[in-house]
Amino acid sequence: MPPPARPPMTIDQKVRKPLKELDVKGVGDIQRLFFELSQTLDGEANSLVIKGARSEAEREQICKTFRNRWLGRKSGLIAQADENWLKTAGTDYKRDAGRFFNALRAQVEEKVTALPAEIRLHVGVDAVFTDAGSPDLTLPGHRRPRGSVHPVTRVMREIEDIFLGLGFSIESGPEIESVYYNFEALNIPESHPARDDWDTLYVDSQTLLRTHTSPVQIRAMEKHGAPLHILCPGKCYRHDNPDSTHATMFHQVEGLAVDTDISFADLKGTLDFFARKFFGEKIRTNFFPSFFPFTEPSGDLAISCVFCEGEGCRVCKESGWVEVMGCGMVHPEVLRHGGIDPERYSGWAFGLGVERFAMMKYDINDIQLFHQGDVRFLEQF
Ligand code: DAH
Repeated sequence: MPPPARPPMTIDQKVRKPLKELDVKGVGDIQRLFFELSQTLDGEANSLVIKGARSEAEREQICKTFRNRWLGRKSGLIAQADENWLKTAGTDYKRDAGRFFNALRAQVEEKVTALPAEIRLHVGVDAVFTDAGSPDLTLPGHRRPRGSVHPVTRVMREIEDIFLGLGFSIESGPEIESVYYNFEALNIPESHPARDDWDTLYVDSQTLLRTHTSPVQIRAMEKHGAPLHILCPGKCYRHDNPDSTHATMFHQVEGLAVDTDISFADLKGTLDFFARKFFGEKIRTNFFPSFFPFTEPSGDLAISCVFCEGEGCRVCKESGWVEVMGCGMVHPEVLRHGGIDPERYSGWAFGLGVERFAMMKYDINDIQLFHQGDVRFLEQF
C-alpha cells in the first residue's frame, strides 16, 4: 500500500520554511510562492469586507488583527517571508526574490491602509444576528412609514357611507364650472344680490371655480332624470381671506333627493338620522328658517352643541345650538332647469362643509391645519 498522501501545506506553514525545504527549483517556483501569498492577502481582505462590522470598535479590532497578521514585526507574514524566503534565496535568485518581495509588501501596505474604509458598519441591524453569528429570520424587518387617510377624506367617506346605506349614490362634477350651472340654473340670475353670498373666483366672464357643489344637482338631474337620490362630495373655491374658519379651497358634500311625494318631513327625518349617525345618538337637531335661492322653503340645520351638549358655551355662543348645514325643498325653477317636471316631482337638498364637520368631530379650531400638510397634525388621525 502506498503511504497516505500528506495534506498540502498551508501558506502559513510554507512561509515558516526556508526556500530549500520548499522544493524550489527555479525562479518560477519562487514567483508562485509569492503569488500564493498575494492571493491569500486578497481573499482574507475580501471576506472581511463582505462580513462588515457591527460597531466602530469591532471594525477597529478587525483592522488591527489584519495588520498584525500581515505586518507584525516578528511573526507577521511579511516578516516571515523576509526571514525565510528572501534571506535564504541564494545569489542566483536574490534579485528576483527581492522584486517579488517588494511588490508583495507594497500590496500588503496598500490593503492595510484601505481596509478600514472598505469595511462597512451594519447600523441598526445588530439584533438581526444571533449569538452564533447567523441572521435571525424570525425578527421583523424594517418598516417604512405608511401614512394614513387625510381627516377631510376620512370624514367625507364617513358621510358618504351613511348616505350610501340609505340608497343614495355618488355623483361628481367639474371644479371649473360655467356661470350657468354655478348660478343661473340654481335660480341666482346675474345682478341678483344673492350672488354676493358666494365670493367667486372667475376664470373668464362665463367660467369660474365652483363656489359650491350645488351645480352637480343640475348636472345629475339632466343626466339621470327623476327619481334621484344622490350625494355630491367635492372641492369648492371662494375668494375669501384665509382665517381660522375660511379657506380659499375647501370641501362640501351636497345631497339631493327627487321623487314623487317628497315632503319637508322626509328632509327632516333623513338629516336627523344622519346627524345622529355622524355625531352620536345624543345629538338633537333643530331646523331654523333661512334663505337660499335654490330652495323654498329654506332652512339651516342646527345640532345641539357637541362641546357643551346644549348647556351653552363659547362655541355655540351660549345658544346651545350650532348651525351645520343649509337645506330646503328644491325650488320648482331648479327642478325645471334640471329637466324635471315640478308638477309631478318634488325634492329636498342640503349642502355642508366637510372641514367644518371634521373640526367639530375632532375639536380642531383652525381650518388652515387641514391644508398645510404638517405631519405632526396629520399623524394624529
Ligand atoms: N350651496 C350652499 C352653499 O354653498 C349650501 C346649500 C344650502 C346647498 C341649501 C343646498 C341647499 O343644496 O339646499 O352655501
